[in-house]
Amino acid sequence: MRRKPRIAVFASGSGSNFEAIAEAIQSGELGADIPVLITDKPLAPVITRAERLGIPAAAVNPKAFPDKAAFERTVLARLRDEEIDWIVLAGYMRLIGPTLLGAFPNRIVNIHPSLLPAFPGKDAVGQALAAGVETTGVTVHFVDEGMDTGPVILQREVPVVPGDREKTEAAIHAIEHELYKEALQKLLAEEQSRV
Ligand code: GAR
Repeated sequence: MRRKPRIAVFASGSGSNFEAIAEAIQSGELGADIPVLITDKPLAPVITRAERLGIPAAAVNPKAFPDKAAFERTVLARLRDEEIDWIVLAGYMRLIGPTLLGAFPNRIVNIHPSLLPAFPGKDAVGQALAAGVETTGVTVHFVDEGMDTGPVILQREVPVVPGDREKTEAAIHAIEHELYKEALQKLLAEEQSRV
C-alpha cells in the first residue's frame, strides 16, 4: 500500500488552522499524516493544541542560532528524520529562507487572511479595516522567497464587518479552516494523479 503524504505544519501562534488540519486528518477527510508540528516560539499556544491532539511538537528557537541558514538546517534535519513531503505554514510569522525553499521546491504552502496581493504581511485584517474595503478574504498559496507572495492555489472572499475586527476575524478564521482543507485535498489529489 502506498504511504500517506507526510505534512509538517509550521505555526507561531494560536494554531487554530493547525488544529483544523489535524482534525481533518483524524476524521479521514484528508488522506495525510502530521508526524510533527514545528514552532519557532517555544511558548506558543499551538503547542498545547498539539499535545491535546497527540502530535509531537518541535520548538526550534531561531534566537539560539547565528543566522537563518543555521536555524533552517536544524529544522530541515528534523523534517528529514520524519520523512516529510509537504510544509504547511499556518500562522508561521517568519520568512522561509533558501535552505528550506531549496529542499522543498513547490512543496511549501501558506495561508494568509486577505485576497493577495492585497494586504500582505502582518495584521492583514487591520489593514483591510483601515482601507475601508467591503470585501477581504483568504488566500492559500505556494511559498516563494517573498512575504505572502507565490502562486495562488485557492482564494475565497469574506465580507468585512465595518469597524468590527473581532467579527471580521472570526469570519475569516471560519473560512480559513475550510479553505486550507480544500487546498490540501486538491494538492494531494493532483499529486496522486501524477504517480
Ligand atoms: C491566520 O489568520 C493566518 O492566515 C495568519 O495568521 C493567522 C494564524 O491563526 N497568517 C498570516 O498572517 C501570514 N502572513 P491560527 O494561529 O489560529 O491558525
